[in-house]
Amino acid sequence: MCGIVAAVADGNIVPLLIEGLTRLEYRGYDSAGLALRDDTSGKLTRFRSIGRVADLAEQSKNHTATSSIAHTRWATHGAPSERNAHPHMSGGIAVVHNGIIENYVALREMLRAQGYVFSSDTDTEVIVHLIVHLAKTTPDLFTAVAQTCKQLEGIYAIAVIREGDNCVVVSRHGAPLLLGLGEHGNYAASDASALLSVTRKIVYLEEGDVAEISLAGIRAVDAGDTPLKIGIDRPIHISTLSAAEVEKGDYAHFMQKEIFEQPEVLAATLEMIGGAQSLSPNIFGASAPEVFADVNAVLILACGTSFHSGLVARYWIEQLAGIPCTVEIASEYRYRVSVPNPRQLVVAISQSGETADTLASIKFAKSLGMGKTLALCNAPESAIVRECALRFLTRAGKEIGVASTKAFTTQLAALFLLAITLGKIGGRVSAKDEAEYLKDLRHLPLAVQKVLALEPAIKIWAQRFADKHHALFLGRGLHYPIALEGALKLKEISYIHAEGYPAGELKHGPLALVDENMPVISIAPNDALLSKLKSNLEEVASRSGELYVFADADSAIIESARVHVLRLPEHYGLLSPVLHVVALQLFSYHVALVKGTDIDKPRNLAKSVTVE
Ligand code: G6P
Repeated sequence: MCGIVAAVADGNIVPLLIEGLTRLEYRGYDSAGLALRDDTSGKLTRFRSIGRVADLAEQSKNHTATSSIAHTRWATHGAPSERNAHPHMSGGIAVVHNGIIENYVALREMLRAQGYVFSSDTDTEVIVHLIVHLAKTTPDLFTAVAQTCKQLEGIYAIAVIREGDNCVVVSRHGAPLLLGLGEHGNYAASDASALLSVTRKIVYLEEGDVAEISLAGIRAVDAGDTPLKIGIDRPIHISTLSAAEVEKGDYAHFMQKEIFEQPEVLAATLEMIGGAQSLSPNIFGASAPEVFADVNAVLILACGTSFHSGLVARYWIEQLAGIPCTVEIASEYRYRVSVPNPRQLVVAISQSGETADTLASIKFAKSLGMGKTLALCNAPESAIVRECALRFLTRAGKEIGVASTKAFTTQLAALFLLAITLGKIGGRVSAKDEAEYLKDLRHLPLAVQKVLALEPAIKIWAQRFADKHHALFLGRGLHYPIALEGALKLKEISYIHAEGYPAGELKHGPLALVDENMPVISIAPNDALLSKLKSNLEEVASRSGELYVFADADSAIIESARVHVLRLPEHYGLLSPVLHVVALQLFSYHVALVKGTDIDKPRNLAKSVTVE
C-alpha cells in the first residue's frame, strides 16, 4: 500500500528519499511523488510520476533539498494518474497521505463553499486545503495540522511541509508511521526499512499523535494535545532489521530468495523449542497459561495467505486439542452479527501486523466481550500485536515479495505449537506425543530443504503452464487449504486464473470445467484420504483432463501421458502441508518467471493492506 518518507537533515536528502521510496516499493504502489523545499527560496517543487520510483529519481536528480516529503501511492479514491499522485498542494503547503478519509465528501463541500478549488479525485486533497484553511488562524503549521486531524474521520498517516518552514509535521491514526532519530537529521516513514541507511533509532507514533520534525529535534503531542517526551512517553526502539533482509543478494527476485530462506526462518521461529521435550504455554505470553486454561473454543481471524494458515490450523486444533475452531475472513467477521463467546481464544494472524480488516476484526471481537486475544505476527511493534493480550512472533524476517511465502510457513509452525499447547492443556496430547511432535518440528527445516531441491523438476512443469489461462488445484483434509494457497499464489503472480477446491467437491461443480485445456494440480500426500483422492483424480483423467500431481515418495500414483507425478521426498504426517506448499510456491514462481510478470510487485496488489 502507500508509503511515506519524510526528512529534515543538515545535507541533501533527495537521494535518501529516493532510496527510502525504493525500499517501500515492495508494499505495492501505482504512482509516486515528492515535494522538495528549496533551501534558498523556501519554495516547494513537486515531482510526480505514474511510473516507478526510478522515474522520480530521474526527474529530481539535479535538485537538492534539506527537507522534503515523499510518497508511493496505491490508488483507492481516483485512478492512478499524475494528477491523483501525492503530494497534493495548496497555498504553499504539500501533503502526503496513507489511508482513507471517510468524511472527505462533507469536508470537500465545506471547503469548496469557502472557495478552495480541487484538482484531483482523491480523498487526500481535502487534508491540504483544510490545513491551509486552518493555518490562516493558527500560530504555526503544527497547530494547524493538529486541528485538521481532529476533523478527519477514517484512517491516515500524513506528512506535511510548508514553504518557508524548516520542518515536517506528521500525524497518524489507524495507519502506521514512525519517526527516525539520526545523527544528521530527523525522519519519518511508514516502515523502518525506508530509513535503514540513516538510522536504526525508531519511535513508533500512537493513534492521534502529532509530531514536528526539525533539525532541532522532535516536538510532539498526543491525541488529547498533551505534550509528549520522546524517549519517555514514546520509547526509542533500536531496529534490528538488517540490510541483507531488504536486498535480493544473488536471487533474481525477493520471492525466490524468500522461498529459499524457509529452512532458516523456520529454524529461527522454532528456536525456542531447542532440544526440549515439552512446551511451555508462556511462549505465547506471560498470562497464556491462565488464559488458555479457560479456553473452550478458538476463532481465527485473518486475510489472504494468513487466512489459509488459519484454515490449516483448524484441522490441527480440532484434532490435537479437541476444541471447536472457526476460521473467518476478517473483513466478513467485522461486519456480521455473530454469537460472541467470551471463553473463545481469538487469534489474529498477520504477516505485517497492519492489515486494516484484521486489526478492526480484533477490535470488534473485543467490543463483543472477547478479551482472550492472541496475535500471531511477523512484525513485533505492529498495531495488531499491540491490540492483543497475547502474542507469538514468527521470525520470518522482512518479507518483500507481495506473494507471501516464508511468512506463511512460519505461521504454520507457530500454529502447530499452539495446537500442541492447547492439546496438552486439555489433556489430549500426551507427553510422549508432545515429544514426537517437537522432534518433527525440529526436523522441519531439513525436510523443507529437501523439497527445495525439487526446483529443477518443478521448472520443467512450469514451462508447460505459460500458455494456460486456467488451472484447478485440488486437495483434501489438511491439504485443502494448501490447494487454496497454491491457487492464490498462481493467480497473484502469474495472472493465470486458478481455483482451489476440496477434491471431494469436484463433481459438485468444477468437473464441468475439466477438458484438455484445464490442467488440474493435485496435492496427494500419502495420508488416510489418499485412496479417496485417487478416485477424484480418476474422474479428471477419464474426462481428458491433464493432471499434475504433487505426491509423496510412497504415494502409489502411476504416471501416464496425461498424469504427471512429482514426488516429495518424505511423507510428513500432520506437518505435511508445510512441505507441499513450498513445492507449490516454487511452481507459481517459475510459471510467473516464464510468463515474465513483475513477480515481486504483481499488478494491482499491495503487500500491506492498510485500508479496507
Ligand atoms: C495482502 C498481501 C498478502 C497477505 C494479505 C494479508 O493481500 O498481498 O500476501 O497474505 O495481505 O496480510 P497480513 O499482513 O495480514 O498477513
